[in-house]
Amino acid sequence: MRSLRIAAIGGDGIGPEVIEAGCRVLEATARADGGFACEFQGFDWGSAMYRASSRMMPEDGLRQLEGFDAIFFGAVGAPDIPDHVTLWELRLAICQGFDQYANVRPTRLLPGVQGPLREELGRQIDWVIVRENSEGEYAGVGGRAHRGLPLEIAMDVAVFTREGVARICRHACEIAMSRPRRLLTVVTKSNAQRHGMVMWDEVCAEVTAQYPELTVDKMLVDAMTARMVMKPGTVDTVVATNLHADILSDLASALAGSLGIGATGNIDPSRQRPSMFEPIHGSAFDITGKGIANPLGAFWTAAMLLEHCGEPRAAGRLMAAVEAVTGRGEVLTPDLGGKATTAEVTAAVIAALAGAN
Ligand code: NAI
Ligand code: MG
Repeated sequence: MRSLRIAAIGGDGIGPEVIEAGCRVLEATARADGGFACEFQGFDWGSAMYRASSRMMPEDGLRQLEGFDAIFFGAVGAPDIPDHVTLWELRLAICQGFDQYANVRPTRLLPGVQGPLREELGRQIDWVIVRENSEGEYAGVGGRAHRGLPLEIAMDVAVFTREGVARICRHACEIAMSRPRRLLTVVTKSNAQRHGMVMWDEVCAEVTAQYPELTVDKMLVDAMTARMVMKPGTVDTVVATNLHADILSDLASALAGSLGIGATGNIDPSRQRPSMFEPIHGSAFDITGKGIANPLGAFWTAAMLLEHCGEPRAAGRLMAAVEAVTGRGEVLTPDLGGKATTAEVTAAVIAALAGAN
């Protein structure tokens, strides 16, 4: 039987709690499916390692991950270590080192979940946001000079390459083509940023022209926020830069009800290196160790991982189990208005998976 080799990196805060639950649910999904098995290897990288050794992961960390089919990642961030250190030295080190240039975030309002929009608007949310994940505003290019002096200067340079824009736009077109509406919105800010964003528009127009069956529109990022709130049903697949999509995708998750539910994939579409799947939430210090972290984001993440690894039937089965549990509305964690623990929600999803067999 086929065995998926999965690297499990819990990281910090509630990360290890939800990834542990996610591994158990992946095993239960494989059992219910019967067509494959999951083989996990855990890596205790993150802030504890940093405190002991000043490294978020070992020097040869990327090499250790190379041979896996996928990476299942929790969260990073600790109150006593600056966020730019934890982020750049673990999560971004993996994303950039493995050239996971597409960050893909699906958003839907799951059954039984109350979002902040009026019911009839909230039900229209069915989006995939495709974020450029390797360059743009987060390329890390820039610097600081005259530190501490009155003339101190700090610069972050947004880097756009023709191939960087073309490849993310192609990936977004492929995703849009795989969805029933075949609708893609290219987000931009070329009215104000007249170099990088103008080239972004030009390259996206060239790429989308190769997909005549797609309906393509272009939207300024500020107007896009209003459209997502006011007319959610007019949006399907969205492609945007690293910064723009970072913000739009947090808006999307909020509109879908809870940070504890959302999932994302950092994908290397060339499949030369493992892709990394993670719930969108952070390490949530306020609830760490209390056993009440919502594991549904990690389960949705696990479904994305299965889909990417060529097990779409199992992915569908897992999402159906998650939706059966949210739809019943009985076993939910406090962030969704319930009283259940992480363990109880996990058990409910595992039971739904067994029942669906
Ligand atoms: P956060 O996502 O950790 O928490 C925001 C709020 O949402 C908190 O009140 C938290 O309790 C709640 N929440 C988040 N996930 C939940 C879950 N699964 N179940 C129930 N409630 C949940 O974001 P915050 O507080 O801004 O950041 C905390 C740390 O996490 C920081 O160090 C930040 O840098 C890091 N972070 C890491 C991310 C990553 O690893 N990809 C993403 C976002 C933040
Ligand atoms: Mg974000």
